[in-house]
Order: sequence, then C-alpha cells, then structure tokens
Amino acid sequence: MNKNVSFSMTIEERTGSGGSPAVEDPLRSLAEEIGSCRRCPLAEGRTKAVPGEGPARAEILLVGEGPGREEDRTGRPFVGRAGSVLDRCLEEAGIERSRVFITNVVKCRPPENRRPKRKEVEACRIYLDAQIELLQPRTVILMGNAAARAVLDVEGIGELRGRVIRGRFLVTFHPAAVLRNGKLREAFVADLRRGRGMAEGGAP
Ligand code: URA
Repeated sequence: MNKNVSFSMTIEERTGSGGSPAVEDPLRSLAEEIGSCRRCPLAEGRTKAVPGEGPARAEILLVGEGPGREEDRTGRPFVGRAGSVLDRCLEEAGIERSRVFITNVVKCRPPENRRPKRKEVEACRIYLDAQIELLQPRTVILMGNAAARAVLDVEGIGELRGRVIRGRFLVTFHPAAVLRNGKLREAFVADLRRGRGMAEGGAP
C-alpha cells in the first residue's frame, strides 16, 4: 500500500491503491482547496501553494512557518536548505521523512521570506486545523515560534523548547534556526527523537 500522500504528485501517485479513502480523500480535497485559495493576499505572490505532504496515517505531524523560495517553486514543504537540515536531523532521530506529515502554518510563501502576518496566519488557520483533525497525529511537533504561536497561542521558543503541551504538542526549534546556529542541533534532534517516542506510545 502506498500511504505516501505528497500533494505535489498526481492524484494517482498520491493515493496509490488500497489507501484509506476516509482520510486520503478529504486530505486531497483540502490540498486542492488550498491550491486555489484566495483567503489572504499571500495568494497573489505565490507560484504554487504548499499544502503539505506525508502519509494519511502519519502519527507525527511536523509544522513549520511557511514556504520559502524552493517550496514555492515546487509546491513541496521543506525542500530548500532548511529542509536539508530537517532531513538529516530526522534521520539522526530515527524518523523516516516518508512516514511523517510535514506542513506549515501558512501555505503560501510570504514575500522575501518575511514572517507571516497575524491576519495571514488567521486566514490560513482553518487548513492546519483541518489537517490536524483529519490526521489525528499522536504527536504534533511545532517547529519555531510561528508554529507554537499559531497552534497554542504561546510564545518564546527559548523557554518553550522541549516542552510538551496538552499531551501531544511538542515545541522545538525551527530547522532554519538550527541552520543558523549549529549549537541548537543536538537539542533539536533530541526533541525529534522524543516526538518519535511519543508517537510510538511512550510517555512524553
Ligand atoms: N520551508 C518550509 O516549508 N517551511 C518553513 O518554515 C521553512 C522552510
């Protein structure tokens, strides 16, 4: 069974055969809706919306801030430099990228990679909420301040990093921060590993 639902693939490639239509179909519809979304001005500047990708039955959901240049070009999350860091750290933590669902707080690239504005986050929020609702992941790893603020309304990554909130939300650094400051890497990998343990049914 091909459970890998990458929204940059064709519908046939995304769903494969024998997948669970109960989750895959609504995820696919959601991705299509995001692809033509006009809820905020970020839509005007995008090349491709980046709904997110991963298996419909992923037990870990990773949430970043918003697409950068490469993501906007390809329609896939975390495929630029921060994505390479994320890939390596996932591997170190014993997590296969193909088994997690990766998305962002906003699904369209903010100009010049600026922080998404509050109104943009609010407009896009329905999509992340729907993804969490559909996937029902055991662990949601919030990478960076934008993700922690959007989902939990909390702020201050220095204090929050490594904390588990409401049982399944684990706050950690954003991979771009790890790229800028290699000293954060060890803690980031430790957090990913902990997220994996939580998803496997371990205590937080
Ligand atoms: N790429 C993404 O998809 N999200 C980010 O937050 C950064 C880079």
